[in-house]
Amino acid sequence: MAETLSGLQLFVRVARTGSISRAAREIGKASQLLDQVKRYQRDRVASEVRYTMVNGTVTALTSALILGYGAYLAQVGAMSIGQLVVCYGYLGRLFDPIGSIASAYANLQKSVSSIRRLRQFLAIKPSVASPEFPKPIRAEDIRLACHELYFSYNADRSAVCNLTFAVGPGERISIVGRSGAGKSTAAKLIARLYDPQSGIVSINGEDIKRVDLPSVRRLIHYMPQHAVLFTGTVEENLCYGNPAATSADLRRVIEMVHLEPVIQRMSRGLQETLGPGGCQVSGGERQRLALARAILQRPKVLILDEATAFLDTALEGEIFERLRTCLSDTSLVLISHRLSALEWVDRHLLLDQGTLIASGAHDYLHKESHLYRELYNTPKDQHALIEPVSTPSFSPHNLFPRRRR
Ligand SMILES: Nc1ncnc2c1ncn2[C@@H]1O[C@H](COP(=O)(O)OP(=O)(O)OP(=O)(O)O)[C@@H](O)[C@H]1O
Ligand SMILES: [Mg+2]
Repeated sequence: MAETLSGLQLFVRVARTGSISRAAREIGKASQLLDQVKRYQRDRVASEVRYTMVNGTVTALTSALILGYGAYLAQVGAMSIGQLVVCYGYLGRLFDPIGSIASAYANLQKSVSSIRRLRQFLAIKPSVASPEFPKPIRAEDIRLACHELYFSYNADRSAVCNLTFAVGPGERISIVGRSGAGKSTAAKLIARLYDPQSGIVSINGEDIKRVDLPSVRRLIHYMPQHAVLFTGTVEENLCYGNPAATSADLRRVIEMVHLEPVIQRMSRGLQETLGPGGCQVSGGERQRLALARAILQRPKVLILDEATAFLDTALEGEIFERLRTCLSDTSLVLISHRLSALEWVDRHLLLDQGTLIASGAHDYLHKESHLYRELYNTPKDQHALIEPVSTPSFSPHNLFPRRRR
């Protein structure tokens, strides 16, 4: 049902673009989903009808049998009419609890099959796991490097190919490129959300696969575009990754991501309860809450994968400026389609079809790369419509450039 609703939401979004063929495709998808739901509901109703029919038939037959036998006993004088009426009354009382037990059993069957499916899901072993004998890692001055990474989701084509770059301590870089260029995949590889099919990601020179996974998660925080909030108070959500955060820490981070107006608006402030998925805040507010939560965890590398995409340009720029000045010890890896908001970073990595085709500061790329200029000059919402164009070839330089302030 949730899939159907999101399918319909998608259709509404697509219909607004005015593309008839895409809208027709989405209608097709949505009606397929509705057919699935209809089939599921039909099966459910059929099984309920079967249960009611069997239950009713058994009850009616048993009553008829007992009533018939009782009438026979009354006729031959083995039982009085009064005794027969009392017996029949008790029988009615007996059927009610038996009916309830049968209905509880039917519900139990449904729950058991749901739990079985949930267990199967929970039993899936993640392919990314902690090593048996992890190498210790110093939590200061984290230097991430990846060497000739290759990753593909399916055999047809690679999402990331021969990717080599590094992020020094406190360095700020951005990964830019068209939609589908492999930016998110590259970011997930350096956060070890996936392991590459070939190549190495290293953390302070140590293969990241040999480092304890919880330490990697603590040091490197990947924040996606769709922020997840939990049912609970605003404060619980913010302190999720750092329960020891003080009220001064909270105040600082709330100011950094410009959340004061949002929290002031809530009648109970930080103690306001957020519903499932933070349903009562807007997309941009949810992103800012999740960003505040990420900063409170004090990661050494913070990766923001379009994590501010729902904010207006001015607010995104303001928040980036605050991150830049307040998180001087944190390495930042930023992904955004608004390149104008990222001019200040030390270095941009320009990806095209999974390959790093150029890297350098804004001025250099704006002068040298046709693709970079095109992305820079194209309004955010039009990136999906750009056709591939030829781009200058990559010159491997600036692996650990000096920081530009
Ligand atoms: N889970 C997945 N399964 C199969 N293919 C995927 C999956 N995720 C991404 N891809 C494919 O891998 C390629 C790179 O995707 P990726 O998400 O890294 O691109 P991106 O540059 O982040 O794009 P965007 O700007 O739209 O977020 C794309 O061709 C995409 O279709
Ligand atoms: Mg992406």
